[in-house]
Amino acid sequence: MNDVIMARAPWPLFIFGGVGTGKTCACLCLLDAAGGGCHFKTFPELCNDIIAAGKGDLWNDNTGYRMSVHDYWHVWRNSRLTVLDEIGARQQVSDFAYETLKLAIDTREGKCCVFTSNIGPDDLARIYDDRIASRLTTGTVLELGGADRRQRVVPCENKLERQAQEVFG
Ligand SMILES: Nc1ncnc2c1ncn2[C@@H]1O[C@H](COP(=O)(O)OP(=O)(O)O)[C@@H](O)[C@H]1O
Ligand SMILES: [Mg+2]
Repeated sequence: MNDVIMARAPWPLFIFGGVGTGKTCACLCLLDAAGGGCHFKTFPELCNDIIAAGKGDLWNDNTGYRMSVHDYWHVWRNSRLTVLDEIGARQQVSDFAYETLKLAIDTREGKCCVFTSNIGPDDLARIYDDRIASRLTTGTVLELGGADRRQRVVPCENKLERQAQEVFG
């Protein structure tokens, strides 16, 4: 990840790994370090935004103006760093989801961009197609391993619970 930021490895950065391995957290750290003018969306959010923009029901948080689909892609294209999180596994990918993902990738070609998924390149090729898998993995690919960090056992800090454990075992 450092190598990509320091331009020693090519963009885009594709991070994949199981649930809870820290993909989103790593992206948020990167966005914090990058400062303003960046863009973070999960893939489901991106699809919802495009649908809303198409219906004339999406508003720019900064300007308060209504955003068209064209405006949306303009912002996406021109952001300093864009993160598209949760390109997940689905049994069936609709034409709309496929085209949205392809456009989201293509409009960031040659720019700073991070994509994350809970599935690896081979499964992406199977679920989407070779073109998507190839575009996502054309830069730097990083696999995150290990256990789900959300499932770590947390020591019992609650006094009542601790007393109850002492009494009832
Ligand atoms: N490097 C880390 N050190 C400690 N906790 C982490 C780290 N990365 C992620 N976490 C925590 O682990 C949990 C899962 O991380 P998340 O980034 O949401 O995983 P993913 O996006 O891969 O499903 C979150 O509660 C997050 O705060
Ligand atoms: Mg995540």
